Amino acid sequence: MKFFIDSADVGEIKTWAATGLIDGVTTNPSLIAKSGRKFTDAIAEICDLVDGPVSAEVTATDVEGMIAEGRALAKIAENVAVKVPLTWAGLRACKTLTEEDTMVNVTLCFSANQALLAAKAGATFISPFIGRLDDVGEDGMALIRDIRAIYDNYMGLETEILAASIRHPMHVTEAAKAGADVATLPPNVFKQLIEHPLTEKGLAAFLADWAKTGQTVPRK
Ligand code: G3P
Repeated sequence: MKFFIDSADVGEIKTWAATGLIDGVTTNPSLIAKSGRKFTDAIAEICDLVDGPVSAEVTATDVEGMIAEGRALAKIAENVAVKVPLTWAGLRACKTLTEEDTMVNVTLCFSANQALLAAKAGATFISPFIGRLDDVGEDGMALIRDIRAIYDNYMGLETEILAASIRHPMHVTEAAKAGADVATLPPNVFKQLIEHPLTEKGLAAFLADWAKTGQTVPRK
């Protein structure tokens, strides 16, 4: 499974990219607003920090506007993935941009039929929002499973399932079990993935016993 960081905070992205375990970044207009940065500057900096896809979202709602914004965003760096909403205009923009060899992330997906449409439009990524479905009493993970089952029925559909709106580590485990290709994680959730009290307790016990030996492990 690929891990993307869901953030527009360059400092946080730099910190987690240093682990060597980050395969890309997703941003959205809310995250850009939170960062307080100029959109294009933030995207350019993030694209320099990671080799993988960096999603940058259009804000036009008409096809022509989305295509124009998408083309401009794609010029920022080779690893920009233009993010478009799951509307008819978004799907038409997706098709055009994909034909121009631009990566496209179709976002705000809340149903399997929407995901099927996005794949037919040639999307590089489809972003089902797990947490927001859970928030309204639906089963976000069931959507990931449905999309996986549908995409696997058709050889020609190469769209990657990017599990988004992830709120806690169990979402990551469940999305991986369901066969999501990518999970985009808020930095706090990525940090939580490694945490386990028995790991910390076990390490403390090993180090305490080791200290009693008075030995050091050779470094060369
Ligand atoms: O990037 C889109 C997505 O991950 C949003 O998450 O927590 O605002 O529903 P959230």
